[in-house]
Amino acid sequence: MSELHELCQLKRPITKGHLEKLKEYLAAGIPATYTLEEVDQFERGVDEELPSTTTPLHLICENVSHDFTPEEEEIVISMIDELFLNGAGWCLINAKNETPGCVLERRGFHGSKYWEQIVSAGVRAEVLLRHMESNIEFIEEDEVADYDKEPAKQEQQEGKEKEHDPAGDSDTFLKTKLKYTDDALLTDRKDGVMMQWEEKLMKAGCESLFKSVEDPNNVVVLNIGFGMGIIDSMIQNKNPTKHYICEAHPDVLDKMQRDGWMDKNNVVVLKGKWQDTLPPLLNEGVFFDGIYFDTFSEQYSDMLELYDLLVGLLKPEGTFSFFNGLGADRLVCYEVYKRVVELDLENYGLKTEFTEIEVPKTTNPDAKDSVWADIYRPYWTCPVYYHPEAKFM
Ligand SMILES: C[S@@+](CC[C@H](N)C(=O)[O-])C[C@H]1O[C@@H](n2cnc3c(N)ncnc32)[C@H](O)[C@@H]1O
Repeated sequence: MSELHELCQLKRPITKGHLEKLKEYLAAGIPATYTLEEVDQFERGVDEELPSTTTPLHLICENVSHDFTPEEEEIVISMIDELFLNGAGWCLINAKNETPGCVLERRGFHGSKYWEQIVSAGVRAEVLLRHMESNIEFIEEDEVADYDKEPAKQEQQEGKEKEHDPAGDSDTFLKTKLKYTDDALLTDRKDGVMMQWEEKLMKAGCESLFKSVEDPNNVVVLNIGFGMGIIDSMIQNKNPTKHYICEAHPDVLDKMQRDGWMDKNNVVVLKGKWQDTLPPLLNEGVFFDGIYFDTFSEQYSDMLELYDLLVGLLKPEGTFSFFNGLGADRLVCYEVYKRVVELDLENYGLKTEFTEIEVPKTTNPDAKDSVWADIYRPYWTCPVYYHPEAKFM
């Protein structure tokens, strides 16, 4: 273990000397991301791919104590600030597959000042990363073509197929065969596209859509992503004047046809990707009291694209809600994304409020009768759901 790592074990009493020493090490050029694993390799004289990355920040999180004096707490907070100022990573993973935030959560420090520091650093990093990505200078298309051929050729030579990933790529998903079971909609490799355990979350979503109706005689709502039709059935029970549903997957559209959704008087089914079917509505004078968004295999960048349309489609008093599963495989990432969404919607003049909803215990992958038992990969492992409602300020 290096002196930097020893320092981050926070031997008490914690004094200003801790902070000064930390600054000294960092000023001397020791990276804030220097890991225990790198020290180990250095000591063994090897240079291998690192199996994990236990950083000084992990050690601090592993050693903070609930009985710190206020002075000690202040010093540790300054140490964390100093590490972030010097490029510490908020989401690097230690040998237990934990980020520093996960370590805090395990040790009962969720919501503490240290936790808040990590979430804030995560938000800054995510926003900065997006900014950098959007400012990258792209190479010309003909150059791309040449670059692209090489790896493809290499993969062919090595007999490698591109991994079939319906959850990570929208085009692949829309060509993937889907299957309805009693309590889920699954892809061919058993990704959970939609699952019955989300019913309570859909109920909250449906309630939000009707919260700010301007004229009870002209209630117009939009749901993007039919899935199992859970939220759409709830919407139908409220008998809106017009109920728009956007759906792109042919198997889901077939199911909607079989179940009579196309024949309902107040239902308008927009067949195809919302990216194609929503923009024409902007010229048709259609405005919504409520818009709900819950698709599959799309990225946060797609949601950002949706915000552009949202401001033109939502009535001034309207409510926007969505299935909030961004970063939901770790509580710390979930909270970072909660803030990122809040910031982004604020840029569009929308204020977002979140209500906490307890999720079923069976969504814990370690639960005896876990809902993930037969599923390719859990898409939800957080103990709490933050139900979002956004309205113009
Ligand atoms: C998670 S499910 C929706 C579940 C729904 N909220 C419910 O209550 O059952 C996602 C749905 O979005 C659809 N979808 C995915 N990408 C889409 C897109 N770009 N445009 C429209 N629908 C899309 C999928 O085919 C799928 O039916």
